[in-house]
Amino acid sequence: MAKKIIYEASRTLMEFRLLPGLTTNETTVSEISLRIPLVYSEKSDSKYYLNIPLVSAAMQSVSGSKMGIELAKSGGAAVIFCSQTVDSQAEMVKTIKRYKAGFVKPKIVQPQMLIKEMFQIRKNTGYSTFPVVDDNFIFAGLISKNDYDISLHSECTVAERMISKESIDVGVNIQNLKEANRILLESHKSVLPILDENGKLLYLVFRKDINDHTENPLEIVDEKKRLLAVASINTIDYKSRVSALAKDEVDVLVIDSSDGHTIYQKETLEWITKNFPEIPVIGGNIITKSGFRFLVKAGAKAVKVGMGGGSICITQEQKGTGRGLATTIIDVAEERDKYYEETGIYIPLIADGGVTSTKDITIALALGADFAMMGRYFARMEESPTEKIVVNNRVMKPYWGEGSARAREWKNKRYNQVKFVEGVEGLVEYSGRLKDNLEETLTKIKSSMSTCGVRNIQEFHEKAVLELVSALSIREGKAHDIYQANDTEEKQNFESTN
Ligand code: IMP
Repeated sequence: MAKKIIYEASRTLMEFRLLPGLTTNETTVSEISLRIPLVYSEKSDSKYYLNIPLVSAAMQSVSGSKMGIELAKSGGAAVIFCSQTVDSQAEMVKTIKRYKAGFVKPKIVQPQMLIKEMFQIRKNTGYSTFPVVDDNFIFAGLISKNDYDISLHSECTVAERMISKESIDVGVNIQNLKEANRILLESHKSVLPILDENGKLLYLVFRKDINDHTENPLEIVDEKKRLLAVASINTIDYKSRVSALAKDEVDVLVIDSSDGHTIYQKETLEWITKNFPEIPVIGGNIITKSGFRFLVKAGAKAVKVGMGGGSICITQEQKGTGRGLATTIIDVAEERDKYYEETGIYIPLIADGGVTSTKDITIALALGADFAMMGRYFARMEESPTEKIVVNNRVMKPYWGEGSARAREWKNKRYNQVKFVEGVEGLVEYSGRLKDNLEETLTKIKSSMSTCGVRNIQEFHEKAVLELVSALSIREGKAHDIYQANDTEEKQNFESTN
């Protein structure tokens, strides 16, 4: 007989609704703060706080350096995936840490290149302006789409058609965007090459980017004003990986594992705490109180909860292990709060896998999570690392699980460990730029918090009142018994029977 059988079904986030509290001037949408701790830190360093309660999942099809830069600028974080070589992951972290708002590391071309070769690069990258540099990276000039006609100049060299450096205003060793903007305005040009004192090209600054980059009031930066970089690790090659990531000054590490209640995770946490005590580590995933205590004791500074609920996840089907995310959060948050009372140490909880919509994020926060990790949500966006494709006139992006055959190919080659898959691959509908998606999502979360009469996530944890809803109640809560323009014929017929 099993040690214990629980007869009460575990619950998903979709099964809860919030009851309103008193909304006041202090809890209007514009007054609400979504700032939360990313990890527990004795120093309360500001880089260990997020300004929005969202991080993107450590997945090949979700979190590369572009997502890392844009999410950190928006107040969240992307967890750079570890199912790649140590070198390429470290390069992504380096790209985030070296990023300077508005300072673009451009694609370069050489003077001897033919216009037709450069045109191919233009087609592949979508860029229309290229800096020209010699073999020593010394700046030679600029070439843009106005400098040639492909039907006339395809056999010319870049050097023959470029505007050479003598006719171009450049900035030398300029570090801030205001100064670059001043030179651009004075020169009446749209692009400014920034060189070092030896004439080597460092960056380009585009006038069109300046407004976009000067204001990011929510951005998360370290003590040197560089963007926050968060990277995942596994429990196999962690020694070499953490050492390389630490060299590139990663800020926070996340152990990527479907089951964190393991001796391997304990060893990994203890090794990092001993060798790199300055880097906080997020452990997970766990779904029980004992799993929480286990990870915190081993040194985790935040804990990811959830098993089996991800949109690409088939762990429950394959292994029969897992739990509804709402029940997981309720159970683990209770233990987290108890731990806080005992020690004064507040361990943030991350709701991961099973957050299917914005209202799920809000319910997860109300139940006790501090922020949500999502894959599908971010995979749909311009900033995810995949290419858009068109299927049946719809713009889509590929999305695959880290436990799918596609992602595991990488691991298999190295560790020959994987005997079955725990994830699938598919497509998600393209949803545009991160910035626009976040604006809508965050406004919805704040709007729910306003209805509940709370000013921040801490108050949400203390005051939220939630109720389980029935399947019929969920049906009632959707638009019903009316015809809508985009309804299928089948649905219209069905609805019209009452
Ligand atoms: P989503 O936001 O519902 O798409 O779920 C993303 C989460 O699913 C990730 O953060 C991981 O915790 C989890 N996950 C990623 N890949 C796999 C997989 O292949 N199998 C099971 N779970 C996965």
